[in-house]
Order: sequence, then structure tokens, then C-alpha cells
Amino acid sequence: MTEIFHKDDFKWSEYYTAIKGSPPRETLISALELFDKENIVSEKLLAIDLGCGSGRDTFELLKRGWNVFAIDKEQSGIDIIIGALPPEFRNKLTLVVSSFEKINLPPADLVNASYSLPFCLPEHFDELWMKIENSVLSGGRFSGVFFGLNDDWSKFSDMTFLEKNKINGMFNNFTIEYFNEKDEDGETSTGEKKHWHVYSVIAKKK
Ligand SMILES: C[S@@+](CC[C@H](N)C(=O)[O-])C[C@H]1O[C@@H](n2cnc3c(N)ncnc32)[C@H](O)[C@@H]1O
Repeated sequence: MTEIFHKDDFKWSEYYTAIKGSPPRETLISALELFDKENIVSEKLLAIDLGCGSGRDTFELLKRGWNVFAIDKEQSGIDIIIGALPPEFRNKLTLVVSSFEKINLPPADLVNASYSLPFCLPEHFDELWMKIENSVLSGGRFSGVFFGLNDDWSKFSDMTFLEKNKINGMFNNFTIEYFNEKDEDGETSTGEKKHWHVYSVIAKKK
């Protein structure tokens, strides 16, 4: 089985090409619907898109009026966002090239991390989570995805895989609004077979 994210010559740009034109992640959409129910004025709110890649979630946030602080370690993803950015969104978006391991996060109404946190080095994950937790304002939300121990890629020591109990504990200062576990065979975005063990979470900070 080919593990695209661990091939020696793997480049994230291959992933960005594979997902070109893909819709925003469902977890983000559900989180935004929860904000909408609270009659928020999105133009006044800030979302961090952590591990934004080529911007499938970043663009959805911008379209809905949010200010966005989008971070990724890959310049190639950021360049795709710059190339596709309509002029009217320029003053709503801050783009930062940084790794999770070195990142500083501003206070935010939403921290969104779609399929990105599992790529944090395990020894840096707790510190990163503390930064995320501190960044989310009271009444704000986290939306994102973690990988569980049954995932095919859990044999890779440079990625982070979490037990359900650990994930629940990380949200002690939040109210969990959505928690979904998928533990099933599927495919990667480039069409390779893979067992996915994925936890999707939306939570509101107390
Ligand atoms: C699977 S992609 C997800 C991208 C986007 N959020 C999406 O849903 O399409 C994972 C992203 O995390 C980024 N990433 C991986 N390791 C990272 C790290 N240590 N620091 C910052 N970003 C990282 C990659 O560059 C990539 O863009």
C-alpha cells in the first residue's frame, strides 16, 4: 500500500492538486451553522484556519464574511490561496507560513483545523493544543479532526494519533456540540486504499 504522505518524494502540492475544487469540510460548515444560529455578525469575527493547505476552508470563511488568519507550513499552499484570492477579500485575510511547532495564535472566535493536527509531531502536540485552547475566546469554537489509534498511518512516529479519552479530556473547558468517530476502510484523496480512524469535533469554549 502506498502511503502518499510518507513517500520520500511526497510533496503537499500533490495533495493540493488532488483536492482542487473540493468543497469545504463538513465539520467547518456545521460549526458555521452553529454560529449562524446565534445571529452573529461574521464581519466582526476572526477565524484561524490551522493547516489551511490550499484554502478549501479559508475561502468558505471569507465568503461568509469572516476575517481569517490562515496558517500552513507549506508555501505552495499559501501561494495557491494568494493566486485565487479575489481582491475584495485581501483585507480580510492574513496568511502565515509557519509550522505548528513554532506557531503563535491570536485570540479567535473560531479555530478550525481540518485534517491537519495529526501531522503535528507527537512531542509538540500537547503544547500546540494548549495554544489552541488559549486562543479560542469564551463563547468561541473549535472545529476539526483528530486521528485515532486504528488509523492505518498510526505506525508513523512523526504523526499524532489520539485515544478517545484523551480527546474528551482536551475539551474539559468546552461544551462538545458534535463528536463523530469513523473507523472504516476508505480511500485517500489521491485514490489509495486506507483505513481511516477519524474523530470530528465541534466544541464551544465555556
Ligand atoms: C491533509 S492537509 C489539510 C489541508 C486543509 N486543511 C484541507 O482540509 O484540505 C494537511 C495540511 O497540514 C499542513 N501541515 C502538515 N504538517 C504541518 C506542520 N507541522 N505545521 C503546519 N502545517 C502543517 C500541510 O502542509 C497541509 O497543508
